[in-house]
Amino acid sequence: MRTPATQFLSALQSHLSVSPNNHTPTTMKLLYPTSLALDISSIEGFPTLTLHPYDVKTPIPEDLIDAEILITWTNSASNLKDAAGRMKNLRWIQSLAAGPNDVINAGFDTSRIAVTTGSGLHDRTVAEHALGLLLNACRRFYEMRDYQLQGKWPGHLGGPQPDRPAGSFTTLRDARVLIWGFGNIAKSLAPHLVALGSTVRGVARRQGVRDGIEVYGEDKLPELLPQTDALVMILPGDPSTKHALNAARLALMPKHAWIVNVGRGTSVDEDALFNALTEGTIGGAALDVFEVEPLPRESKLWKAPNCIVSPHAAGGRPQGSEALIVDNLRRFLAGQQLRNAI
Ligand SMILES: NC(=O)c1ccc[n+]([C@@H]2O[C@H](COP(=O)([O-])OP(=O)(O)OC[C@H]3O[C@@H](n4cnc5c(N)ncnc54)[C@H](OP(=O)(O)O)[C@@H]3O)[C@@H](O)[C@H]2O)c1
Repeated sequence: MRTPATQFLSALQSHLSVSPNNHTPTTMKLLYPTSLALDISSIEGFPTLTLHPYDVKTPIPEDLIDAEILITWTNSASNLKDAAGRMKNLRWIQSLAAGPNDVINAGFDTSRIAVTTGSGLHDRTVAEHALGLLLNACRRFYEMRDYQLQGKWPGHLGGPQPDRPAGSFTTLRDARVLIWGFGNIAKSLAPHLVALGSTVRGVARRQGVRDGIEVYGEDKLPELLPQTDALVMILPGDPSTKHALNAARLALMPKHAWIVNVGRGTSVDEDALFNALTEGTIGGAALDVFEVEPLPRESKLWKAPNCIVSPHAAGGRPQGSEALIVDNLRRFLAGQQLRNAI
């Protein structure tokens, strides 16, 4: 099968084999964003490649518009839309976001341009944030802070407490945690939960054991959701996950169960979630992602009971970008399958 990378390779080879005017090999351009600190020296050294910084918030300058490779990170929608229309030589986009919805929505011709994600670069940061939200939920730090701001002692949260009472989510020990979207981030999160004594199970498109965790297909949700104390959603934001957590599925969960969402906001029906929170049919929700971001001032979720709003703060700092770029560059030049290809 001729992938965009193999098509590009054969084009590149014929380009290099004939030197039209001065018999020197033609080089290609890679544009890297100035919106994060990349160690460019570790990407240098490919003989047919020149590296060029670019501003992700303004149109690509005319002298760089013929670039073949674009690395993206926090680009503005207008920058990407402009690039999609003007970069006629573009063959590959390496996003450093795990979920490159911005690139996908910009209108690039993906029949000739390979797109690869930054999945794997955010595993530790998002796993840590999800763990923090889970601890906040069961240890109720958010409620302690609410009392503190009123100068009140939240006596019901301190002093002697029942140990792991049935029908509650007060600790991660013995908690049944279900991770829906069991990919790279989940694999980073699960060992921390296991270490704290949780029973962890996963849901993904394909079932099977992954890193020692039993992962089920979505067809098992009707069995799994009623046995869940905390549901951690780490789903990508694509049409297949739109409102995956809807009213019917929320209704299957125990009244004390919490939802943590660090994937994409579109995977949760926010109206259904708000109703479940206000009616007390679920325990609470700690959300890092929303259908519209920033969360609009008029959103009902701000004041919903037991709802923690986190401002898409889980990731935002890719780790190990250079190694992914170099690995994929080598694969791209060799005409091999790219890592994290969409
Ligand atoms: N909050 C933040 O700051 C932040 C930061 C980074 C990433 N994210 C979000 O987190 C998402 C996951 O990242 P990741 O690196 O873990 O991605 P990943 O390794 O690609 O994992 C995605 C997982 O979701 C599953 N999945 C995809 N579509 C599904 C569907 N329709 N039904 C059920 N499962 C489905 C996949 O199942 P299979 O394994 O069976 O294919 C896979 O297990 C990203 O797409 C991004 O949107 C958020």
